[in-house]
Amino acid sequence: MAKDPVRVLVTGAAGQIGYALVPMIARGVMLGPDQPVILHMLDIEPAAEALNGVKMELIDAAFPLLRGVVATTDAIEAYKGVDIAIMVGGFPRKEGMERKDVMSKNVSIYKAQASALEQHASPNCKVLVVANPANTNALILKEFAPSIPEKNITCLTRLDHNRALGQISERLQVHFGDVKNVIIWGNHSSTRYPDVNHATVGTSAGLKPVKELVGDDNWLNTKFIATVQQRGAAIIKARKLSSALSAASSACDHIHDWVLGTPKGTWVSMGVYSDGSYGIQPGLIYSFPVTCEKGEWKIVQGLKIDEFSRGKMDATAKELMEEKSLAYSCLN
Ligand SMILES: NC(=O)c1ccc[n+]([C@@H]2O[C@H](COP(=O)([O-])OP(=O)(O)OC[C@H]3O[C@@H](n4cnc5c(N)ncnc54)[C@H](O)[C@@H]3O)[C@@H](O)[C@H]2O)c1
Repeated sequence: MAKDPVRVLVTGAAGQIGYALVPMIARGVMLGPDQPVILHMLDIEPAAEALNGVKMELIDAAFPLLRGVVATTDAIEAYKGVDIAIMVGGFPRKEGMERKDVMSKNVSIYKAQASALEQHASPNCKVLVVANPANTNALILKEFAPSIPEKNITCLTRLDHNRALGQISERLQVHFGDVKNVIIWGNHSSTRYPDVNHATVGTSAGLKPVKELVGDDNWLNTKFIATVQQRGAAIIKARKLSSALSAASSACDHIHDWVLGTPKGTWVSMGVYSDGSYGIQPGLIYSFPVTCEKGEWKIVQGLKIDEFSRGKMDATAKELMEEKSLAYSCLN
């Protein structure tokens, strides 16, 4: 029997990530090839015409799984009954703007989105925040949508996770599908910490530690980390635009694994509400290694953390605490 359609909202859908993301969702990349979807797309008034253009293209593409499209600038209509919300809409940093000004714009956007989410989305709606500052936007959503379970509000660090897999696979000349269990700790910012201490590569002789195969701790602790941390900036330099197709694809991976589960023995990175695991203070949305089963994520426990990692994990937590107080100062 055919499944009932799932309602998926994409905010900022007229933007560049939105344009890459909505066809992936409509093709079943996010929720599977047998899951029909109804797409809800929200943007703001100046982008209304472009948004309508995206809707026209979705209709023209005649996606078999697409059972309806709502394209609107009205938040109530956009959030009505959605099961999954992917928040891509936000205010980008423009030249000459102070960090506080960008934060202030986004805090007010995410406070408003929180109330629309709470009042109109399905009560068990799963939320993925993509727009930057992603962790802090997600935290604001969580704080102002208290009736949505906190475990349902997450942010995207899967792009960083996938970037780490990509760098290791390039270095070792193996397919990225054979590399697993890298970790992104912390903030989706330049302080993110890509950790390969527990990562492995599937080889003909079985699973081998990435550290052993690379055999160059200096590269892992310097160049590798810096490349992953600065990859977004490198893409902007090359494309004159920020990453869009990889962000869209990683957003699909994030929701796919959350809803459909992670393969046995594999974890992924997700920005989730800290429960104090690994000494990260509760009250932050922090990226952890998680496994997912039956639509629920769980932080991987018991990993050994060495002194080098501890320092990096604490530094990115400290930045998140500073962002949180900046966000709160914008609310006053
Ligand atoms: N977490 C990640 O891994 C990651 C990766 C890449 C980009 N990003 C972030 O994703 C966001 C979107 O990137 P993009 O390249 O698509 O930007 P973009 O400027 O092309 O698109 C953003 C869209 O959001 C819309 N928007 C603005 N305010 C809105 C609101 N209040 N409600 C609904 N829509 C609104 C804009 O009109 C625009 O269409 C940016 O914040 C970017 O920094 C995050």
